[in-house]
Amino acid sequence: MTLLDTFDRPLRSLRISVTDRCNLRCRYCMPAKSYNWLPAEDLLSFEEITKVVEASMALGVRKVRLSGGEPLLRKDLPRLVGMLSALGLEDLALTTNGFLLEDLAPALKRAGLHRLTVSLDTLREDRFEKLTSRKGPGPTLNGIRAARESGFEGIRLNSILMRGVNEDEALDLVRFAREEGVEIRFIEYMDVGGARQWVMDQVIPGAEVRAILEDEFGPLVPAETPDAAPARRWKMGDGSTVGTISSVTEPFCASCDRGRITADGTWFSCLYARRGMDLRGPLRVGDAIEPLLREAWASRDARGAEERAALGDEREVLHLPETLDADPHLEMHVRGG
Ligand code: GTP
Ligand code: 5AD
Ligand code: SF4
Repeated sequence: MTLLDTFDRPLRSLRISVTDRCNLRCRYCMPAKSYNWLPAEDLLSFEEITKVVEASMALGVRKVRLSGGEPLLRKDLPRLVGMLSALGLEDLALTTNGFLLEDLAPALKRAGLHRLTVSLDTLREDRFEKLTSRKGPGPTLNGIRAARESGFEGIRLNSILMRGVNEDEALDLVRFAREEGVEIRFIEYMDVGGARQWVMDQVIPGAEVRAILEDEFGPLVPAETPDAAPARRWKMGDGSTVGTISSVTEPFCASCDRGRITADGTWFSCLYARRGMDLRGPLRVGDAIEPLLREAWASRDARGAEERAALGDEREVLHLPETLDADPHLEMHVRGG
């Protein structure tokens, strides 16, 4: 029987953060000067991660996405991909900033990774450095090309547009995606932990992005979208597609089928959940975790993005800096983007 949560949502997908480290410092995610990193001995081993995925699959999970921090910083990642791809998942995907992809794309493909999503918010060098504190986007562009040459199909780009920062690049980013033959998705700037400088005024609603694109490229026609996917897809006149992920202005909690787990084995029912459930302890003493996951999903009442939206004009930054410093698990880069 399908395991359902308290809003009748099935458990279908699992997002796994394999490291909290990142080689960029995107201002919407990691704007602080320094961070408290998870202790190395707390990181789940690949064997432990595989056990979590097996237990999750027994409860209905069909899709796994690896994320970070930056997942390609995790040593030997292709070995983990190989272990997970052997489990027979419907979908095994990875979200990366692409900096290390040029080196790793062939090994990831050989290991059985199905899909790749690359984050890219600007094509301009000066802006890239302002936005991420690193020089780019050359390495990311090389990574995208290497991924295509390694045989990855259906590569996606994730772009977060922020008002007064990079919203004027929407059209250039679409043109770039078309030339590369990849699908771009515009993501609203979310007030998640980590977004320490979030203000509603800087959010570019998906509807506004669609209007900008229609002005330039003509009508957007709704395209096929899987039920529980965050992105709504649209077809443009030339046959290419774009996506909009309106997590802030049009939350999709009603169809949310995902659990998420941090690199140190803390399971969360929602991106916005304040507290998680420790699975590392049980894993390390040899306890079965399937019953824990079953109970957690059956009692799940998460709808974090909808609750935030209900605040209307009262909506401000989610967590104060001192709260984040005291509990890194509240950070977006720890709970997997
Ligand atoms: P696919 O549908 O398989 O492509 O996965 P995805 O869209 O979840 O993956 P991706 O890593 O591309 O995530 C895109 C963005 O969606 C993230 O950067 C977040 O802004 C947002 N997002 C991802 N997961 C959640 C979630 O659980 N809840 C909410 N509200 N937003 C999410
Ligand atoms: N709002 C929306 N998406 C975010 N990400 C990180 N911080 C935010 C935020 N404040 C996204 C990254 C990447 C994914 C892992 O999480 O852009 O696509
Ligand atoms: Fe799911 Fe929580 Fe995101 Fe809503 S905010 S879509 S419940 S993870």
